[in-house]
Amino acid sequence: MRHFPAFHDLRDRVVLVVGDTTAAERRRQLVSAAGARVRVRLAGLVDPGDFVGAALAFAATGDEVADHRVALAARQAGVPINVADRPAQCDFILPAIVNRDPMIVAISSGGASPTLATLLRAEIEAILPAGLGRLARAAEALRDRVAAALPASADRRAFWRRWLRGANGGLALSADRSEIQARTDAALRVGPSIGIAHIVGAGPGDPDLLTLRALRCLQEADVILHDHLVPPAILDRARREAERIAVGKRKNAPGWRQADIERELVARVKRGQIVVRLKSGDPFVFGRGGEEVDALRREGLPWTVVPGVTAALGCAAAVGIPLTDRRHASSVTLLSGHGAGVGAADGWPASFAPDQTLVVYMGASEAASVRDRMLARGLAAATPVAIVESGTRAGQRLSTGTLADLPRLAAPHVARGGAGPTLIVVGAVASLAGAEPRYAPAEEVA
Ligand SMILES: C[S@@+](CC[C@H](N)C(=O)[O-])C[C@H]1O[C@@H](n2cnc3c(N)ncnc32)[C@H](O)[C@@H]1O
Repeated sequence: MRHFPAFHDLRDRVVLVVGDTTAAERRRQLVSAAGARVRVRLAGLVDPGDFVGAALAFAATGDEVADHRVALAARQAGVPINVADRPAQCDFILPAIVNRDPMIVAISSGGASPTLATLLRAEIEAILPAGLGRLARAAEALRDRVAAALPASADRRAFWRRWLRGANGGLALSADRSEIQARTDAALRVGPSIGIAHIVGAGPGDPDLLTLRALRCLQEADVILHDHLVPPAILDRARREAERIAVGKRKNAPGWRQADIERELVARVKRGQIVVRLKSGDPFVFGRGGEEVDALRREGLPWTVVPGVTAALGCAAAVGIPLTDRRHASSVTLLSGHGAGVGAADGWPASFAPDQTLVVYMGASEAASVRDRMLARGLAAATPVAIVESGTRAGQRLSTGTLADLPRLAAPHVARGGAGPTLIVVGAVASLAGAEPRYAPAEEVA
């Protein structure tokens, strides 16, 4: 390790910045943000008095000779110097910074490859939640209270670990809630057992379509209750120690009943676990996420919902169907092939218009009924349709044709053993579907 990393307290300290280049301005801003009193000088106008009392000095004049002169003067005055773009002349170098004040991540390649450090910073930026600073401040505000309630340092450490990963940490990250303090007091009274349920959308199958927040939840989970549509490639992204329970309900097959899933969810949260309820697509689109939230609400347990890319959006993107292309459609309607809504017998609207895009979930095995109900509601037999099986996944398949032909088109997507999930798009935009997938999944997805 050529450079020793340390964080400098510059509040009310003098820092000298020499130069009027962009690099000089950037350095001025950085040290100002850290509370320094900045002394700015132009290249030819530096005198030894400028170094008096300075904690640090920066040379960024854009001129090699001038920079060198400043560096010599700084050394004579005993002030650590940083020379822009000249690591060999530096007493200290500037790291790439990820700022979630008061949490700061500093990255350095020791001058070997600043670009690599910048790339790494981008990756860390993407991983760290925007509310991380708020979380740290919330913890700071509670420190004295926790120290008084838990005098033994081992107990405090265990408490904080659970608090930061658990319900209160989750709430502090995503929103500024006044209840955090009350909840923490309650937690201190009953001990460190606070669980939370995250109802998480896993997207249509390609792991690259997980949201950052979904990924974060997967990496914090104690237990994951997942549907059978969630592929192993997504479960592989979860924390290795997390327990995984398949709670999928398959049509016409024994499996978990909705009430069993809700009971398990509630029991696990009460036990103090961080529970991820992982559902394909989005939890609130034909996902019964609302019922699970209700079950948690009834028990007064904490929960969050993490949206996911629903199958309609994932499949449309994967085959190039712009769902509301203004040249063809003015709206998009999501329907269940089973029909389980309110109102008319199958829950569908009473009529459909030609400029409407319809996306039917769970409709392939009932294709004849879907067709007949759409014809009865005013759609023409020649309306274009596209059927997308296993959208965004390695086995993605597309069939296109007209509404009249829907049962014949759907048959191969249903009959094949192990056929994947299938979505039907109906409307003028369906004619824009590409014969070949326009999307190559980043990796094989089962
Ligand atoms: C119970 S619903 C769940 C929908 C999910 N919550 C969502 O937002 O996408 C299951 C249906 O979603 C559709 N589906 C889910 N993933 C799909 C995919 N990758 N390709 C095609 N259809 C998919 C199929 O119609 C499947 O029968």
